[in-house]
Amino acid sequence: MREIYITETNQLSFELGIDIHWIETCTSTNQVAKQLADDGWSGVLVTEYQTQGRGRMERSWLSNPGENLLLSWAFECRCKVQELPRIPLLLAGELAHAFDLFVKWPNDIVTKNGCKVGGVLSTVSGLEENVWTVVIGLGLNVNQTEFADELKASSLRIETQRIWDRLAVLKKVVEVCQGLDISQSFERWSARSITLGRTVEMAGRIGMASGIREDGALIVDGKPITSGDVHLVEM
Ligand code: BTN
Repeated sequence: MREIYITETNQLSFELGIDIHWIETCTSTNQVAKQLADDGWSGVLVTEYQTQGRGRMERSWLSNPGENLLLSWAFECRCKVQELPRIPLLLAGELAHAFDLFVKWPNDIVTKNGCKVGGVLSTVSGLEENVWTVVIGLGLNVNQTEFADELKASSLRIETQRIWDRLAVLKKVVEVCQGLDISQSFERWSARSITLGRTVEMAGRIGMASGIREDGALIVDGKPITSGDVHLVEM
């Protein structure tokens, strides 16, 4: 499917008061946004296609050109180092809420039955004490309808049976980013979670995911898990 590219970002930048920069293609918006942010830029970088899109755990992030949303949001964040891991989780929770989707720990945006619609990947570099440059990348499957089976992926279009206006989706995403408050609770994340209250498996360990800690760690059988992939166990 070939779509009209999202080129009208100038008007949106003006409306939302944030620099939204569109490029047709790049290696990875996270990589380019980080270079720009290191030179003091802040804003949202959007592209139609990435040649080296990256996901969590060193995986690739694949997306058909012009069908989805691929962006990175670069901003300066003032907070304690231990608060930084909260950011991608909180954002995933808010986005899940905005698009009536769910979250799988830590920050996968999924359907109710766990098909992946989006994901968040952040990088952080320190500027001075408790001041950080955060680049947070989002891949959101919008209008793509075909995915390799092993990806267990879906899109807004598949879930809703309609084609989405990607500029409108971009607007909603940027508004969610702008509204993010790092000190907010995990209430929304928890309400949208398909992980909590479930039996999960991680690195051969099986246990009950009972809660989320203030730093975003998942509590499994009373012990915190801070990184990695958890799988839901069908019982
Ligand atoms: C995940 O694995 O769930 C995170 C996926 C993040 C993908 C996005 S697409 C835009 C940005 N650029 C990248 O290379 N990765 C992020």
